Amino acid sequence: MRVLLTGGAGYIGSHTALCLLNAGYDVIVLDNLSNSSPEALRRVEKLTGKSAPLIVGDCTDRNDLKRVFETGPIDAVIHFAGFKAVGESVEKPLDYYDNNLSATIHLCEVMKEYGCHIIVFSSSATVYGTNQTMPLREDFPTGCTNPYGWTKWISERILTDAAAADRDMSVVLLRYFNPIGAHESGCIGEDPSGIPLNLMPYVCQVASGKLQRLRVFGNDYPTPDGTGVRDYIHVCDLAEGHLAALRYAAENRGTQVVNLGTGVGYSVLDIVKAFEKANDLTIPYDICPRRPGDIATCYADVQKAKEVLHWQAKRTLEDMCKDAWNWQKNNPRGYEK
Ligand code: WQD
Repeated sequence: MRVLLTGGAGYIGSHTALCLLNAGYDVIVLDNLSNSSPEALRRVEKLTGKSAPLIVGDCTDRNDLKRVFETGPIDAVIHFAGFKAVGESVEKPLDYYDNNLSATIHLCEVMKEYGCHIIVFSSSATVYGTNQTMPLREDFPTGCTNPYGWTKWISERILTDAAAADRDMSVVLLRYFNPIGAHESGCIGEDPSGIPLNLMPYVCQVASGKLQRLRVFGNDYPTPDGTGVRDYIHVCDLAEGHLAALRYAAENRGTQVVNLGTGVGYSVLDIVKAFEKANDLTIPYDICPRRPGDIATCYADVQKAKEVLHWQAKRTLEDMCKDAWNWQKNNPRGYEK
């Protein structure tokens, strides 16, 4: 099976490429390198001894998409490409709607033109919005609090309606919770540009001395220790979830929505303590005001992933913390030469 990974040079895309190659799939990557490095794919090739060809281009450009499909038959697509910073989406909503939705629509059009019927889409738990009971289940009401989340929600709608109009189409919408960690080799990992927005990469840069202290955004949430609770999932478990989704999509038609999480919530201070214990380090932090837009608690109901995809996360919080630090300490400047 030959699979196109749009945005496949990114954090989750590169880990998924590694997983698919090791499982015997062929991959090809389309990435505009706006938030990724070709070095990630070079390292994937080195780790697997297999080829992960990269076409530099943009999913919003039909001609770039056609260049990819002209390289040879593509059996399935995993669509990672898109802008993904929540805060930035509030500042630049039109950029986010234009980029993320055009990419999804143009990709569907070109897939249909070339007879490719299978798509796995990188969605997000952010589509569940706020004021929900936990754990979050796929049939819960959805509603977003920022343009980034709405682009994921609308893309889910686009793909669902496209599949309803085309009986050959198979769509799996994967709602990620909080991916962290890195491949055990320490050769590929999360390489945020600038000051990290997300918790784990920020913790790693405090551990390496690149940043001084962690800001804990609020300790007055209705949670066990007052800090925000999230469902952190090892990026390699997430990658394996994509493999399971591909296998399901190849055997079925229509649309499935599936959470990819562990079903367990950890607070910010849980993460700090686990990271310190796993790596025998100290992470200095200050309690700061809440970050606007944050919710108190978010974690997944994982039953459907088990029943439909026959997949569940298996790596521990200790694995996530050790692997995150292993990547950081071996690559203090990410993929930069
Ligand atoms: C986790 C917890 C923060 C940084 C985001 C996106 C989501 C998805 C994953 C794309 C929260 C706290 C964080 C820091 C902190 N991305 N925190 N200090 O916000 O749950 O989800 O990334 O799909 O769409 O919204 O992840 O890592 O930013 O925050 O205290 O420096 O850590 O308040 O409780 P989040 P996060």
